[in-house]
Amino acid sequence: MNIDLSTQTPALVYSTMAQTIMPRPIAWVLSENEGGSYNLAPFSYFAPICSDPPLVMISVSKKPDGSLKDTRANIIDRDNFVLHIPSWEQLEPMNSSAATLDAGVSEVDELGIELTEFPGSPLPRIKESRVAMACSLFEVKEIGNGPYAMIIGRIHHIYILDEAIVEQTAESIRISPSTLNPVGRLGGPQYTELGRIVTLARPK
Ligand SMILES: Cc1cc2nc3c(=O)[nH]c(=O)nc-3n(C[C@H](O)[C@H](O)[C@H](O)COP(=O)(O)O)c2cc1C
Repeated sequence: MNIDLSTQTPALVYSTMAQTIMPRPIAWVLSENEGGSYNLAPFSYFAPICSDPPLVMISVSKKPDGSLKDTRANIIDRDNFVLHIPSWEQLEPMNSSAATLDAGVSEVDELGIELTEFPGSPLPRIKESRVAMACSLFEVKEIGNGPYAMIIGRIHHIYILDEAIVEQTAESIRISPSTLNPVGRLGGPQYTELGRIVTLARPK
């Protein structure tokens, strides 16, 4: 099948892209609500985009009523956020944190997720996280005709579970993918965990 996207509805275009560009990593983003509670939501339109400076982006749409998602509003208003890479063991709470709640209602409180101090970050991280990145807002770009905004964040600190670090020098770090065991997003409500891992030298 050869699909001409210019003749398709935005919903079909989304559904086709989401089920072909996969598996996608998931950014599980903690931000601060007005009033000081913490918001948590997953985003799989997520990518690293630069390492000098260290930048990542998430693409955030709007709520069904057209208002800004809490993550987007919180980051614009308060600048800082913590991006976690969820492990397979966190699949269910990560998925549950995508529920559309009223602004100010904390997914962290609703789901009973334990947080811990994150040295170098003004915000805490999820205690059970294996990777957490303390980020600040770098730039927001409205994109396309739809409700999307690309939120670009600058990473300041990265927490990595000690047991996942295999070796580290001044020039490189080797991290065990199977210890991090990240969740991958497929299309719709489907997820995957790591499959076979192969090592292949890069051609010169
Ligand atoms: C695995 C997963 C990935 C998601 N990825 C995105 C995404 O990339 N962009 C987006 O706008 N919403 C995405 N969503 C939906 C948001 O998580 C959902 O709208 C959430 O309620 C937003 O929360 P907030 O209003 O607290 O920011 C995703 C949901 C799931 C379960």
